[in-house]
Amino acid sequence: MLTIALSKGRILKETLPLLATIGIEVSDDELNSRKLILDSNVEDIKIIVLRATDVPVFVQHGVADIGVSGKDVIEEKGYMGIYELLDLRISKCRMMVAAKSASDIQKNLLKVATKYPNTAKNYFNKINRQVEIIKLYGAMELAPVVGLSDCIVDLVDTGNTLKANGLKAFDEISSISSRLIVNISSYKSKNIEIKDLVESLEKNL
Ligand code: ATP
Ligand code: PRP
Repeated sequence: MLTIALSKGRILKETLPLLATIGIEVSDDELNSRKLILDSNVEDIKIIVLRATDVPVFVQHGVADIGVSGKDVIEEKGYMGIYELLDLRISKCRMMVAAKSASDIQKNLLKVATKYPNTAKNYFNKINRQVEIIKLYGAMELAPVVGLSDCIVDLVDTGNTLKANGLKAFDEISSISSRLIVNISSYKSKNIEIKDLVESLEKNL
């Protein structure tokens, strides 16, 4: 039995067609049910659909053998108990520092609003900048506009959200896409099944 944890939302929309290309499908009835563990068309593959931030946690603890998770979430949580196996090249965007103007990010003690405190801390440490992190769970773009922070660290794709709120992207921290991750023990105990799945996916990217 292989249990695969998928991230809800935009990643799920792009992951399901990818799994379908290698013959793993979940019916709409299963997806729309209130069940938390879903059957796939393959007898020994179960699917769990989770909040994006919970996927690495389930994989780390071995509740799911493998998972599909944004690089942003993996980097924020760290690699304890998991390996990253494959870049799925979906849900691509960039982790960026954004502010109203360049002068806002020159301050000595920079106030940074973000959903990614570890990522932000690591980045500013590396460039020897002192920061105060303000952890938010959404609507980061509002923070500099209302004076809660000097800048934000957040995901940018089209740049429309920044533009709509009068912000500009300045520094790129990393490029993001979704990755296939695996529990380290599962990788040993279910090596053949997992390697087969990775190879099939790789061929279809
Ligand atoms: P939650 O509701 O659990 O807080 P969320 O609203 O952040 O999750 P999504 O917006 O579906 O959930 O995003 C989840 C993942 O999708 C992110 O972790 C990231 O990897 C990717 N992602 C987020 N925003 C974008 C974007 N604008 N373009 C491309 N990929 C994105
Ligand atoms: C993400 C991210 C930005 C936006 C960037 O938010 O947090 O706000 O996308 O994309 P853009 O550059 O194409 O505008 P999301 O749409 O996931 O909303 P949420 O954070 O409120 O869930």
